[in-house]
Amino acid sequence: MSSPNPATTCLPASGSNANRAELPENALVLPPTTQLQALLTIIRDEKTQRGDFVFTSDRIIRLLVEEGLNHLPVVPKTVRTPVGLEYEGVTFQGRICGVSIMRAGEAMEAGLRDCCRSVRIGKILIQRDEETAQPKLFYAKLPDDISERYCLLLDPMLATGGSCIKAIEVLLSHGVKEERILFLNLIASPEGVNNVCTKFPKLRMITAWVDEGLDSRSYIIPGLGDFGDRYFL
Ligand code: PRP
Ligand code: URA
Repeated sequence: MSSPNPATTCLPASGSNANRAELPENALVLPPTTQLQALLTIIRDEKTQRGDFVFTSDRIIRLLVEEGLNHLPVVPKTVRTPVGLEYEGVTFQGRICGVSIMRAGEAMEAGLRDCCRSVRIGKILIQRDEETAQPKLFYAKLPDDISERYCLLLDPMLATGGSCIKAIEVLLSHGVKEERILFLNLIASPEGVNNVCTKFPKLRMITAWVDEGLDSRSYIIPGLGDFGDRYFL
């Protein structure tokens, strides 16, 4: 069996992820591996049917959650292994919760639960007006002790940033510290990243990809269309 030819298996970092140096420091982007680019190609494809869209989005969400957990603080912890030796490891410090921006953010809850079994999850219902793209807040239900927790804010699409900013304002009004907010996102526009990350310089966001921009309806381009419709309907 012949070994794979690196020239055919490796892609250069392409798309606008190549200009990540221009992003604010608190915006982190997943490494543009060929696996990630292949997964994004599937969910961007207008021909992809719902089953494949859900399966593939869930795989990217899992990558985001695993990376997000790397940004939570840990403290040293020593354990004894079955061979009678000590292992000097670490354990997470502090409690977390997830908060999804409904509806699309709810698609990310299962990925968080897969990694953090009994994690508490709050919900904020924000909908963009289809004509103006302005966000409207309808509802928020959050854990009572959210002000003591690290908060993983979940929304797959960051376009103008209006919905995310409104959600962060809700979290801050409930006593969550800005530096304890970690925003997990699949696809962002540069405008959205800049709007959120400069307004809230102490939060961190992790996205899988930064696209080129927004169209006249404030949809992300090239984007993938309406995430919520493609995932749930
Ligand atoms: C989408 C998306 C974000 C928002 C992004 O939700 O999930 O919440 O738009 O746009 P913005 O950055 O310009 O605010 P939408 O309001 O369409 O509702 P949905 O989750 O029900 O699809
Ligand atoms: N919401 C989406 O689902 N997609 C976009 O491109 C913008 C907002």
